[in-house]
Amino acid sequence: MSRERTVFVCASCGAKYARWQGQCRECGEWNTISEQRVFEESANNAGSRAAQRALAGFAGQTGSGVVNLAQVNITAKARLSSGYAEFDRVLGGGIVAGSVVLIGGNPGAGKSTLLLQTVCRLSERVKVLYVTGEESLEQVALRARRLGLPTERVRIASETSIDKICALASGEQPAVLVVDSIQVMHVQGVESAPGSVSQVREGAAALTQFAKRTGIAVFMVGHVTKDGTLAGPKILEHCVDCSVLLEAASDLRFRTLRCQKNRFGAVNEIGVFAMTDLGLREVKNPSAIFLNRQEEVAPGSLAMVVWEGTRPLLVELQVLVDVAQGSNPRRLTLGTDPNRLSMLLSVLHRHASFSLGDQDVFVNVVGGVKVLETASDVPLCLALISSFRSQALDRRTIAFGEIGLTGEIRPVPSGQERIAEAHKQGFTRAIVPYDNAPRTPPSGMQIIPVRRVPELFKLS
Ligand code: TYD
Ligand code: MG
Repeated sequence: MSRERTVFVCASCGAKYARWQGQCRECGEWNTISEQRVFEESANNAGSRAAQRALAGFAGQTGSGVVNLAQVNITAKARLSSGYAEFDRVLGGGIVAGSVVLIGGNPGAGKSTLLLQTVCRLSERVKVLYVTGEESLEQVALRARRLGLPTERVRIASETSIDKICALASGEQPAVLVVDSIQVMHVQGVESAPGSVSQVREGAAALTQFAKRTGIAVFMVGHVTKDGTLAGPKILEHCVDCSVLLEAASDLRFRTLRCQKNRFGAVNEIGVFAMTDLGLREVKNPSAIFLNRQEEVAPGSLAMVVWEGTRPLLVELQVLVDVAQGSNPRRLTLGTDPNRLSMLLSVLHRHASFSLGDQDVFVNVVGGVKVLETASDVPLCLALISSFRSQALDRRTIAFGEIGLTGEIRPVPSGQERIAEAHKQGFTRAIVPYDNAPRTPPSGMQIIPVRRVPELFKLS
């Protein structure tokens, strides 16, 4: 007997609640929770169906019984290059057979463009199948022609049924299958509308199982929507091998491709593209675009070296310190962690008697880059001091380093490589943690090692 029941489901992460609420406790998103009617039985089945599919997928990989880890056969397969070095790096060195990659991003970010360019390039070496559920075949063909892509050997279909897509791909046997997008797809036997949590989850589970069974690499497009009308990529993250996000940088011409989860490589790896009339172009020297090349120097601005994935990136940090307008001074950060800023303000106060308690503080990382690592602590403090004193820092200076709660300046990984990258980009002075200072600095580069926070006040 099935019993109808009402649940409230978050469209972003799939969490279920008995009552409606404005914010999802699981993922923190607002206004993503909506009412859904489910039959008790079918709801349970839907959950277990995904689990069964996932298990079947894993079983297919492992064979039967228990073995010694050392005895597992490893057939080292070469990775397939996507044709774009920036894309390959984000994937951890190319496409892995049988892997499932989710490409997330806002509508208009360029997901379809990136994948179309990729399959066209791939088609010159391997078989590919591009399935579009959003655009007509003619639209895709027009775009490919306009971008001057090789289309001769690209197999394409317009389809929104996952079951049919799997059947088509079984017949075609491509090395790479693209499904654009998972939110317009539906799975047989799942009642809810395309884009709903259960459709998206079931569709992705079916594609994952298909990829594992056949060894076909699958790319799925997943739109990120803030209003929660579509189930977001977050609910898919656990089932895919690799999740990458394509984002527009604040300068709208550029797009960054960022890896958020990767079973085959480093996370936080980023690739940079420029959106041109001829589609996406790789940016080989991203440091150059994130730096302000203006000649005049402004107080509160400083270049820093952050380590994104496996390579250094130079970005400009800007800070504005101004007398607070209200009784509650504002602390606003774009591209860095606001909690980290609060911590640093306390460290500066406690260990250097430098108080910004009556000041508004705004922090911005130029170019829309998000800095997740602690190496930005030292540059952030230097920029705070510079903005407060209205004294510009030397334009050819870079800085990096972590700051601890006791006011000590701690080394960060890959210090030498950071200094080398700054040297390559024409910087002549580096403020670095004492333990990161190289014995023989690059020629023409002055190294200023620092051990404790008070020393930062003597630099300019
Ligand atoms: P698209 O790949 O359709 O985005 P998504 O699939 O992520 O929704 O890209 C659409 C945007 O890219 C659109 O705003 C126009 C822009 N664009 C260009 O500027 N140049 C081009 O050559 C192409 C194909 C798109
Ligand atoms: Mg699209």
